[in-house]
Amino acid sequence: MLANTNESWGVVSRSFHWLTFVLVLIQIPLGFYMVDAYEVYKIDYADDTVFMRASLAHNTLGFLFLLLVLARLSWRLKQRVPAMSAALSVYQRALARLTHWAFYLLMIVYPLSGWAALSAYEFDFPIFFFGWNSVPGIVPSVQEGALFDYEFFADIHKLCWQFGAGLLGLHVVAALWHGFVRRDGVLERMLRG
Ligand code: HEM
Ligand code: HEM
Repeated sequence: MLANTNESWGVVSRSFHWLTFVLVLIQIPLGFYMVDAYEVYKIDYADDTVFMRASLAHNTLGFLFLLLVLARLSWRLKQRVPAMSAALSVYQRALARLTHWAFYLLMIVYPLSGWAALSAYEFDFPIFFFGWNSVPGIVPSVQEGALFDYEFFADIHKLCWQFGAGLLGLHVVAALWHGFVRRDGVLERMLRG
């Protein structure tokens, strides 16, 4: 079934959910790798350095991630949402809803903060999307030390990682609890529908 039903997630929602997860699994180590590579090569972007190739991959995947999340969110808002298990307490449902919406917010702020950091950078620096190396900025380029400079947005980008790790921990513990302790079908309906 493509669409969601009252009982379960359809193929589209499930594909969005797991594709997002796979992209995050690639983007996080790639982000750290890129930052490490920068320490070695610095801003030698005239050359085809490991840092430049990592940037190209990280930016491109980040933009694809943003497009994916926007598509996912519009699908989510148009679709019915499977009912939550009646056995859950009011407090558990509220926590689940809060976690899910916090994820959506995070999935938008994450790529936007990375994009904004590069836009704010005081030097002319490439922002890649596949072969295109001059994606326009979303905030003005300012000197280091200005209020909304590179560091400001890069710090938000880094906070996303810490906040996201906490949220994911909570989410995965809850999913496994449903799957192996409660065995109430909540994990199955995101896996097999
Ligand atoms: C969902 C998408 C993204 C994820 C999960 C992600 C993840 C990460 C991670 C884990 C780091 C290393 C953070 C650290 O040093 O503490 C990083 C760094 C960085 N990312 Fe992303 N990123 C995403 C999208 C983007 C996009 C779209 C751009 C730009 C177009 C971008 C630009 C950057 C930059 C400039 C840094 C270096 C920040 C610094 O100064 O340390 N990211 N990213
Ligand atoms: C980057 C990682 C992840 C993100 C951002 C994420 C996000 C979300 C969101 C927003 C929902 C709400 C449903 C929706 O609107 O589509 C959801 C549901 C769900 N997620 Fe994840 N998730 C992630 C990883 C995981 C992992 C690793 C597992 C399993 C171990 C998991 C298991 C589930 C389950 C079982 C549901 C269904 C809840 C229900 O049916 O009420 N998720 N996830």
